[in-house]
Amino acid sequence: MPDVAASPAAPHVTRREDYRPPEWLVPDLALDFTLDAARTLVRARLEVVRNGDHKAPLRLDASGLHILDVRLDGETVNYWFENDVIRINVPGDSGTIETEVAIAPKTNTQLMGLYESGGMLCTQCEAEGFRRITPFPDRPDVLTRYRVRMSGHKAAYPILLSNGNPVASGEDGKAGTHWAEWEDPFPKPCYLFALVAGDLVANRDNFVTRSGRTVDLAIWVREGDLPRTEHAMASLKAAMKWDEQVYGREYDLAMFNIVAVDDFNFGAMENKSLNIFNSRYILADPDTATDMDYDGIAGVVAHEYFHNWSGNRVTCRDWFQLSLKEGFTVFRDQSFSADMGSEAVKRIEDVRLLRAAQFPEDAGPLAHPVRPDSYIEISNFYTATVYNKGAELIRMLHTILGPEKFRAGCDLYFASHDGEAVTCEDFVRAMEEASGEDLAQFRLWYSQAGTPKVKAQLVQEGAVARVLLEQEVPPTPGQKAKQPMPIPLKLALFGARTGAKHDDRLFILDGAKEELVIDGLTEPAVLSVNRDFSAPVIVETDRGAADLAFLSGRDDDPFARYEAMQQLMLDTLKQAVSNGEAAHEPVIEAVRETLANQALDPAFIAEAVLLPSEAFIGDHMKLVDPEAIHRAREALRAALGTTLESLWRDAYATHVANRYEYNPAAKGARRLRTIALGYLAAAGAADAPAIAKRQYDAADNMTDRQGALGVLANGDAPEREAALAAFYDRYRNNGLVLDKWFSTQALSTRADTPAAVEALARHPDFTLANPNRLRSLVGAFSVNQRAFHDASGRGYAFLADMILAADKLNPQTAAKLVPPLGRWRRFGEDRAKLMRAALERIVATPGLSKDVYEQASKSLA
Ligand code: PHE
Ligand code: ZN
Repeated sequence: MPDVAASPAAPHVTRREDYRPPEWLVPDLALDFTLDAARTLVRARLEVVRNGDHKAPLRLDASGLHILDVRLDGETVNYWFENDVIRINVPGDSGTIETEVAIAPKTNTQLMGLYESGGMLCTQCEAEGFRRITPFPDRPDVLTRYRVRMSGHKAAYPILLSNGNPVASGEDGKAGTHWAEWEDPFPKPCYLFALVAGDLVANRDNFVTRSGRTVDLAIWVREGDLPRTEHAMASLKAAMKWDEQVYGREYDLAMFNIVAVDDFNFGAMENKSLNIFNSRYILADPDTATDMDYDGIAGVVAHEYFHNWSGNRVTCRDWFQLSLKEGFTVFRDQSFSADMGSEAVKRIEDVRLLRAAQFPEDAGPLAHPVRPDSYIEISNFYTATVYNKGAELIRMLHTILGPEKFRAGCDLYFASHDGEAVTCEDFVRAMEEASGEDLAQFRLWYSQAGTPKVKAQLVQEGAVARVLLEQEVPPTPGQKAKQPMPIPLKLALFGARTGAKHDDRLFILDGAKEELVIDGLTEPAVLSVNRDFSAPVIVETDRGAADLAFLSGRDDDPFARYEAMQQLMLDTLKQAVSNGEAAHEPVIEAVRETLANQALDPAFIAEAVLLPSEAFIGDHMKLVDPEAIHRAREALRAALGTTLESLWRDAYATHVANRYEYNPAAKGARRLRTIALGYLAAAGAADAPAIAKRQYDAADNMTDRQGALGVLANGDAPEREAALAAFYDRYRNNGLVLDKWFSTQALSTRADTPAAVEALARHPDFTLANPNRLRSLVGAFSVNQRAFHDASGRGYAFLADMILAADKLNPQTAAKLVPPLGRWRRFGEDRAKLMRAALERIVATPGLSKDVYEQASKSLA
């Protein structure tokens, strides 16, 4: 048993069922900041109004604030300050509260509230950071009009930004200081408040909305970064246009600002008209950013922009409803990215991410519903379940209702809840009302955790095929028994002889067990099921290698083709792990056919010929044996590399460009080329390191350069050290690229990776204080299955050390590193013991944050 006395004293659990409307509202707020990195003064004037018939005092959240003054209607007032809450008796039904507090941005290492990053001051308020700036009812259902004044040194902070529109500015009486005032006409929850003060320059552009209004756009960065903002700007304009065309949503202010900061806990934040971004999702040029980075930027810029409607105009009533804005907005950004590039490849990427991040979460001790029921620390619920499974729920609604009814539901949702803070239930009800469909059973997708398992079996007798379908939703923490959910399955039958499609339909599996009868077949059929990944479920079929190989070459749904290939590879690898060997030929032949198929998009081929990751293979074993999985996968890679060597060489030679371009075709070519190089290296081709080094040296873009580096980093050719050193020298002053240098080594498949990572943690460029750097080394290492699960347990001890050290600075980011340790049940006894020991050591550490406490203690349960 962990030492309970050392844990945060009985951490408070917040429950969804305890939700009550706010007792006091704050329709208006005036803020006045006297900015200084060491000590910023914040004066606030809140107009408060009693909400309903009650006698309760006004309740203001206040965390880490040095309180200087509190007044009611101009008079000093008695207040109670306990557990980060200020209570004030307000005798009337309304009043004016004035507070003055001091805060210290410079020492704010949590990166929540007002903090310093690269010399500028910026804010992060979601979920509960506003209480670290000023006393306020810090909950999303209190909507307020903001007027913000700030003053500061003109030399340090020439640019002063906040939400809404600039209304006034000027010089102060005091020498060297200036001020600005901003006003946001849209009432908003305090988690959307933002302020930025810094020495910044802008890439400026504009967008004319469909009703003819001109919106001034600005992306603010440090001067030297300006040339790297073009892609973000192009993405923003494309997103604005797309939201008008696809959702009928127009931007609603005259100005839209984005600021890039280097120290940021997440990807980006949708503050009203002042989005603040992790610089990795803004800055890109061909020399420093990969195609994946470019895609990430387009997706995240769109995501934050789309929040203006799905999140800001209509917001969340409480944090249990987080997926209301996040699941919906992820679905929207996924659809946008699909429309901008290859729909098939985008779907494959999204499903790969869901399976890598969400399925394990749903299968482990931290499993929770898309709409959780309780939390200790809400920051721990910004998860793949809330975001990515949440997006799959919206996608299923889109599939079940069809695009027209889905759009009508969205229109109704926005029209009826504009300016409100609402629930997931409100969203489903709007879909129901607009479509006339009954979604009662669908609501289970919000309340039941766990990835459903679907068994699908095709039984054919002559012309009649019966498809037998069964579903089971596994038990998860706190949820033993589950009800069947409506699972939309796109399925088709293909003739095994002719390849003709005999049936293609959407079947909603809503019972535990159902049977679908399809008549009129003229040949033996092969079943294609969960096409386009129409439901976020695990499908089990009895299809053998021949059927899977057939589908991988013939299915007319590209996702289903990819999936058939993955299944074939997975079946082969599982067999190799359990038996020590397996027949490689079916995989090799299927890959050969795909590689040689000139009709296919190279970007698709690249995805299809990739073997499932070691972690994904582990997820499909009863107990994970990391070494056996590594060996089996490397053996299959080598066999593919050797047997198809001439095809890989062809692919490598063909997909070469004269000059860098960023477009779907060029991206696909680059990806396939580096994957081909990886197979040549796996084959042990003597010239592979030299080819990689040549690619590295000749590259005119980061995708090719990092691709070559990654291939070299997995091997032990002399070119390896040369390339790593060259990369470091070239980019030592670019933090975002240096992150790649760390993560490439942390992801290496070499046996000495645990030792290399320990050494890198002592490298002068490593720091726990920057979340990107921490994730680039420690986060990357923890998903490198073979290295992290080194039998010695040193990987677990290293991760625990890092979590404990990071927790002292930044609990939110430290807590994100815990889940890999929580997977101990999936490993053999020796490893499980070592993993538990690491978790127990964490839980027993005095002074632990509630963030890490929640993740680590739940992981032990
Ligand atoms: N709301 C942000 C998003 O767009 C994520 C975020 C959460 C950012 C918390 C910072 C802090 O998904
Ligand atoms: Zn979001």
